Parts: sequence; structure tokens; C-alpha cells
Amino acid sequence: PRPIYLSRHGESQYNVLHKVGGDSDLTQTGLMYAKQLGKYFVQELEGNRNIKMFTSTMQRALHTSNEVCELLGVEYYSLKALDEINPGICDGLTYQQIADKFPQDYEERKMNKLTYRYPRGESYLDVISRVEQIIFEIERSRLPVIVIAHQAILRCLYAYFHEHEVPEIPKLNIPLHQVIKLVPAAYYCKETRIKIDP
Ligand code: G3H
Repeated sequence: PRPIYLSRHGESQYNVLHKVGGDSDLTQTGLMYAKQLGKYFVQELEGNRNIKMFTSTMQRALHTSNEVCELLGVEYYSLKALDEINPGICDGLTYQQIADKFPQDYEERKMNKLTYRYPRGESYLDVISRVEQIIFEIERSRLPVIVIAHQAILRCLYAYFHEHEVPEIPKLNIPLHQVIKLVPAAYYCKETRIKIDP
């Protein structure tokens, strides 16, 4: 059975500042992760270039994917459907700033992160519906699949392949600098997590 590999982009400038949204680029550490991730895939795939790779249209994901592709000698599909959850009016703010500026929104999201929709942005339910097409694509693929994307996006994909209930999605743990390898088995996907030091 062909594996599915999920990874967040390398550490970004906004990750360091604890800000949501934006389209910031990788930090030096994030760039180092991207290079290590490429090396990991070279070993893991043993030179097999017959794979499918998907990423988002955001700088941090594209730059991570570029490093991987350069080493692997493959191309990726860059899809808007894999862009991070849109935090609307909260774009560029830290969680503390959101709490200060929009206390009601902050509370509402805390109470119901799944259905809360950022004003002029998205909810997790919105994200789930837009990543559905990618899920079908991944399921159809007979080749190994690599997805380099974002926390909220990978929570949705991971939940689908690992059979988590929808309400659990916003709380799933998808850390930076880690690959989640899912191998389809009889009734579920077998999971391995590989930490990659930048
Ligand atoms: O900015 C987006 C984060 O990756 C998603 O985090 O949904 O837990 O706030 P959150």
C-alpha cells in the first residue's frame, strides 16, 4: 500500500512571532528543516521519483516544497485548496492581540473552534469542505503522496485518514518539523511520526 506523508512547512517568521495568517517566509531554521526534509525523502523513497506531491500557494509552503523537490527531482502541484485557514479580520495578530481587540470572537472561538468562522475569514468546517477535493485526489492516487501544508489543513487530512471524529479536528496535534507517515492498512492507516531536527 502506498504511503501518505504529511508535513507542515518549516518554521515561518509568523510562527516565531506567534501570529496567525499572513504569508510570511521561512526563518533560517525553517529553511534548514526544508533541506533536512528533502534528505529524509531521498532516503525514504530510495530514489523513487514516481510520487505525487501537493503543496499550498503560500510562501512558507512553496519554499519548503522547493527544497524537497530540488533534492528529489520531482515536481509539485500548488493548490489554493491547501492554503492555511483564513483568519479574516484577525490576520497578522497574535492570539493575545485577538483576545484584546476582539474579546467576544476570542471567547466564541474558544468555545466552539470547529464552527466559529473568523469575520471575513473561515471556520474549520469551511476548511474541511475545501480540502475534500484533495482528499479524493489522495485516495485515488496509486503512488506515494507527499503533502506539505499548514496546521489547520493537515489536521483535516490527518483526521480523515486516521478516522478521527470531526469535532476532534481543531485540537489535533500536528507539530512543526515532523513527518507523519500514514500507511493504509485493512481498516485504518498505520501511523509513524518522524521528528526531523532542522
Ligand atoms: O493560524 C493558523 C494556525 O495554524 C491554526 O491554528 O486553528 O489552532 O488557531 P488554530
